[in-house]
Amino acid sequence: MSERKKVFIKTYGCQMNVYDTARMKDVLAPLGYAAVETPAGADLVVLNTCHIREKAAEKVYSDLGRLRPLAAEKAEAGGRMLVAVAGCVAQAEGEAMKKRAPIVDIVLGPQTYHRLPEMVARALRDEGAVFDTEFPVEPKFDFLPPPGAEGPSAFLAIQEGCDRFCTYCVVPYTRGAEYARPAADVLAEAKRLVATGARELTLLGQNVNAWAADGWSFGRLLRELAEIDGLARLRYTTSHPLAVDDELIAAHRDVAKLVPFLHLPIQSGSDRVLKAMNRGHTAADYLRTVERLRAARPDLAMSSDFIVGFPGETDAEFAETLAVIREVGFIQAFSFKYSARPGTPAALMPNRVPQEVAEARLAAVQAALGELQAAFNAGCVGRVLPVLFDRPGRHPGQLIGRSPTMQAVHAEAPADAMGTVRPVRIVGVGPNSLAGELLSGDEREAAE
Ligand code: SAH
Ligand code: SF4
Ligand code: F3S
Repeated sequence: MSERKKVFIKTYGCQMNVYDTARMKDVLAPLGYAAVETPAGADLVVLNTCHIREKAAEKVYSDLGRLRPLAAEKAEAGGRMLVAVAGCVAQAEGEAMKKRAPIVDIVLGPQTYHRLPEMVARALRDEGAVFDTEFPVEPKFDFLPPPGAEGPSAFLAIQEGCDRFCTYCVVPYTRGAEYARPAADVLAEAKRLVATGARELTLLGQNVNAWAADGWSFGRLLRELAEIDGLARLRYTTSHPLAVDDELIAAHRDVAKLVPFLHLPIQSGSDRVLKAMNRGHTAADYLRTVERLRAARPDLAMSSDFIVGFPGETDAEFAETLAVIREVGFIQAFSFKYSARPGTPAALMPNRVPQEVAEARLAAVQAALGELQAAFNAGCVGRVLPVLFDRPGRHPGQLIGRSPTMQAVHAEAPADAMGTVRPVRIVGVGPNSLAGELLSGDEREAAE
């Protein structure tokens, strides 16, 4: 092992990037790189970027600008700060990044980060800027070291890429074609994560419920994972409505460890807009899927993604989105103003919605979603929820955990409650969290 060096990795975008950042730390550790929390003084800075909307992509360049004085300081002290750009902006822009930001030494895509050590070595040998944004034939997963302890709640990437080509979206271009990891690899990684302390697994994929491998459906995979002793909860994200099949619905009925919470993007409530988006489903199809899921799991809470101001979206079409939001009663959602992305079909569509109209629609969607969320949270007061404690609280003696429906719950709890699921009575609602009290031993017995 070489001398200790410092790597700072900044993560933008989705949970897949969070997972990838952890894996990059794993591949760099054997080279002597220890992860640090700030870029100042780092020997290697990696920006793990997101291309989904213009704002996210542009942020990378301002962050690169901010690295310049830090790299100069490092050089003055006789060292060298290597700068690598990874992730989806790197994949989309490739070598062009170097022209706009000469500080960049390495550009690598989401499918090549298992080769990062080799790229770092080449950059240090001063072979000029190193670019590697291919989609290699060998899946990177075969070359990654097994993940270390990830804490009580761990991510597990089981699927990557997307073949759906929604007309607004860059993901099929930045992440490539759909790839499903073999079932045995997924099971082995899940068991390792649980053996090192994970109580909850969140299965990740851009189109996670399209996973199918070795003759197994996604529903079958969920059943098999639920058999792992010591695992308390299973989640998955992000799923596509068209890939919700009978086996998955049956898994929601039968698999108790599968949380009663599902993030299922709809994007719009207008069939005309959904068609222009190439979503492949109507609003009624989506509602029917939710109905079938709720018939299987009556307490299923729903979350979603929305895009407002898609090209040509009229007031009446937007009103249909608001109607769907009320009809489903989402307890949480992400909503975005449409952002035209280079290379996507929607970027060429006429009838752009003016910014101020899109902004007003975004505010209306967020107000509707906020109301539903507040009502759901208020309805939790007085109930006893199983909470997985996974973080220290704001003061000693307090822990923060998550309910099955992803609400943050604060409670006074002993340190040994960390990493365990405990029954908690909800006693109050804050703007972004719930306040709870651990049940006493007697109460627990009575509840069981
Ligand atoms: N694979 C997932 C997530 C894709 S990205 C899915 O299909 O849902 C996450 C969300 O970003 C999308 O669901 C969509 O709501 C939003 N998004 C994607 N492209 C966008 C764009 N060009 N403008 C605004 N929002 C976008
Ligand atoms: Fe993008 Fe659509 Fe694929 Fe989701 S399903 S990643 S929105 S193309
Ligand atoms: Fe962004 Fe790439 Fe994820 S574009 S949302 S980081 S898949």
